[in-house]
Amino acid sequence: MMGGAYHCLDVRRPSVLLLWQSEIGEKRSIGGGRSVFNVMGVGSGGGEIDLEMLAQLRLKHPHVKVDNEVVEPSVDMLHKYKVRVSTTPDLDHINFKWNKMTASEFEKHWQEKNPGKKMDFIHMIQMLYYVKDPEATVTFFRSLLHKDGKLLIILVSEISQCVTTGDIKTFLDTEGIPYRNYELLSQMDITECFTEGDQVGELLLDFLTEVMEFSKNAPEDLKKGVLDILRHPECSKEVDGRIIFNNNLGVLVVEP
Ligand SMILES: C[S@@+](CC[C@H](N)C(=O)[O-])C[C@H]1O[C@@H](n2cnc3c(N)ncnc32)[C@H](O)[C@@H]1O
Repeated sequence: MMGGAYHCLDVRRPSVLLLWQSEIGEKRSIGGGRSVFNVMGVGSGGGEIDLEMLAQLRLKHPHVKVDNEVVEPSVDMLHKYKVRVSTTPDLDHINFKWNKMTASEFEKHWQEKNPGKKMDFIHMIQMLYYVKDPEATVTFFRSLLHKDGKLLIILVSEISQCVTTGDIKTFLDTEGIPYRNYELLSQMDITECFTEGDQVGELLLDFLTEVMEFSKNAPEDLKKGVLDILRHPECSKEVDGRIIFNNNLGVLVVEP
């Protein structure tokens, strides 16, 4: 997978939240009428999208308490998440449980500590790229779902060098696992990235690689590698002389 090109939900965040809203809209579609919802974020990063989803859950189900397991191996990200929690109002109904570990470490930990506990909602947003075996990871986390729970997976949706929702769909179809599939369309004009010294191009490269001043600091061979990947037909196409980067995301809502 290319650097950090897919690292944030950027303009698609509202669509994710709308989708999430419709998934939790049905009173009984999550939680089955219980007074505590068990939620889990896997690879939550700094918790930005997690807290937005939890805020919507609050709006839809104002009297429900939430037990929120956070699985995140990065100390920095967990720190950011905790700071965000400490500065966000109205989170008293949520009990945060911090698990500084990878998804596979968490699997071992969970089987020892909580073998019977079931989850109402689990999300894996832009994280399956980082695990060795995405299918085994989906299988394990799906096995934690309550009978009316949901597993939300967001990944790039089309041909790419990393795992896509297409790969996960093939796996789910083979196993006969029910799911719903949505597309979040997004394209980005990255033409300026290919003009050396162009200010807009440099900012775009910073955004795509998630590295500040990438053009100034990256070694020449890395810069060339990134530009080659961006230009590759799997990542972009030429339209009226402009280079258009395909940044579409796929969303899968997997049933237990
Ligand atoms: C691209 S970020 C996505 C963050 C957040 N979900 C979002 O969409 O804004 C991927 C996150 O997955 C975490 N991660 C990396 N490897 C992981 C693993 N093996 N198990 C769980 N999380 C992992 C990273 O630390 C990072 O915070």
